[in-house]
Amino acid sequence: MEQEVILKEIKEYAKENNVPILQDISLDLILLVLKLKKPDSILEIGTAIGYSAINFSRYLKDINSKILTIEKNENMYNKAIENITKMNLSNTIKVINADATQYLETIDEKENKFDVIFIDAAKGQYLVFLENALRLVKKGGIIIADNVYFKGRVLSRI
Ligand SMILES: C[S@@+](CC[C@H](N)C(=O)[O-])C[C@H]1O[C@@H](n2cnc3c(N)ncnc32)[C@H](O)[C@@H]1O
Repeated sequence: MEQEVILKEIKEYAKENNVPILQDISLDLILLVLKLKKPDSILEIGTAIGYSAINFSRYLKDINSKILTIEKNENMYNKAIENITKMNLSNTIKVINADATQYLETIDEKENKFDVIFIDAAKGQYLVFLENALRLVKKGGIIIADNVYFKGRVLSRI
């Protein structure tokens, strides 16, 4: 099946099953940032069913960027693996099934740093994610957080 068709099906699945994936306007903005940055490595916190990671990877296929993405929900993780496999992107996207608040602590900043870090998981944990992102972002790298104003769930923790 053609990749565009599979991508459309992933988007429809998200809509039908209330999976909160990136809105088109946010995706376009992030893709613009990626176009300017041309990252070798991306860390994503909050995979869901792989929609954003798949879009990033497709957009960056010419430079073969590597994406590490973390998802704690097992059903979402399984669906993400299925979608990434269907899209033939298993070589560039690695999905970890773990709670990012714990998994991030296991990444050693002396061995692994990322050009871009995208935070898109539980809003109440954004500060933990941000602390780790600051530690794991390369010098001159970019941290992007989606929906920081969402129902005040991030700002109420500051
Ligand atoms: C908004 S969705 C991610 C959407 C995805 N980035 C996209 O646009 O296609 C947030 C996801 O983060 C996951 N999540 C929430 N808290 C998490 C945590 N502490 N560690 C890992 N994943 C988490 C949820 O299970 C959910 O699937």
